[in-house]
Amino acid sequence: MPIQSQFSPQAGISPKLSVRGIRKDYGATTVLQAIDLDVRSGELLTLLGPSGSGKTTLLQIICGLVEPTSGSLFIDGRDETSLPVNQRDIGVVFQNYALFPHLTVKENIAFPLQMRRLPVAEIDKRVAEVLDMVNLGHTADRLPKALSGGQQQRVALARCLVYRPSVILMDEPLGALDRKLRETMQIEIKRIHRETGATIIFVTHDQEEALALSDRICLMNDGVIAQVGTPQEIYEAPANRFSAEFIGLSNIFDGAIADGMLRSADGDIPAVAGMQAGDGLMVRPEHIALTEPAQGFMSGTVTETVYAGADTRLLVALESGKSIIVRQAAGIPIAPIGSSVGLNWQPSAIRIVR
Ligand SMILES: Nc1ncnc2c1ncn2[C@@H]1O[C@H](COP(=O)(O)OP(=O)(O)O)[C@@H](O)[C@H]1O
Ligand SMILES: [Mg+2]
Repeated sequence: MPIQSQFSPQAGISPKLSVRGIRKDYGATTVLQAIDLDVRSGELLTLLGPSGSGKTTLLQIICGLVEPTSGSLFIDGRDETSLPVNQRDIGVVFQNYALFPHLTVKENIAFPLQMRRLPVAEIDKRVAEVLDMVNLGHTADRLPKALSGGQQQRVALARCLVYRPSVILMDEPLGALDRKLRETMQIEIKRIHRETGATIIFVTHDQEEALALSDRICLMNDGVIAQVGTPQEIYEAPANRFSAEFIGLSNIFDGAIADGMLRSADGDIPAVAGMQAGDGLMVRPEHIALTEPAQGFMSGTVTETVYAGADTRLLVALESGKSIIVRQAAGIPIAPIGSSVGLNWQPSAIRIVR
């Protein structure tokens, strides 16, 4: 069966992995509804979504740990829906890295190769190579308990890389690490991705992590795909309300459309071509400029300022009671709490949300 690439603009390049109509029911509960997704060869695609949206279930179906209720999975164009886990060319890294506590780092990493009965010399060579890749050469003879959480996670990654799978699945692998370590590991994962050329499917519920890491993001909500696109596409042109609210901060106005205006409880805003009844308008906090109260599309009172170094976030309460988030770049005098301000923006910064 020829596979139509639904999301790829690069017609003719066949995807590494194609999910077609994958559905998963647990009893009467549907946790995945007819998922269609193409993952391109060599890309890092993130499954992003709130807890319970079905990310882990989809990943487990891809690696073969869970059987779908219906639908198919193609890898390199082959139907592998029913192929056993150990015959798939897929490596998996989980959040709870599950290293063998009584084996050294080197032995932990060698384990998958021993299972595959590779010659000892080849095993030694490959283990040294991946230890180097994850910067852990100096810990080769230690036991896992003598390593930090971040180092243990890198051993788990090395143990997956060592048998050179062409697809690597990572389920919230950085979830247990503190922020600074997580950011360091994100950079390492990007580097390893470049060096190995592997296709990576990375799961996270953290939108900042997804924006930082991904070639493309597949945003999931309640067992369906809300949007697939580059981080920039999703941030700048959210396909729907869920995308607009889940990725980044957003201000959304709703109301009836009349005489070319969106008449919201918060004030009137010029409508945008293509708007339909029920659509809202969204503006990101960084696109709002503070003006004199009379000069904005709407006006309000600053109720909170949160200084964050590179920028400052302000909350502005409108008369309607709604709070608007505004981001001011560093260097602009910060409007003090209690001051009356107008909110202004360029029409080009406005997006329709459906
Ligand atoms: N073995 C199972 N039996 C019943 N329900 C399950 C099972 N595994 C997952 N679920 C349900 O499926 C939904 C999606 O779960 P999951 O894929 O783990 O989401 P995520 O990884 O996005 O947090 C959740 O509501 C979860 O409770
Ligand atoms: Mg999960």
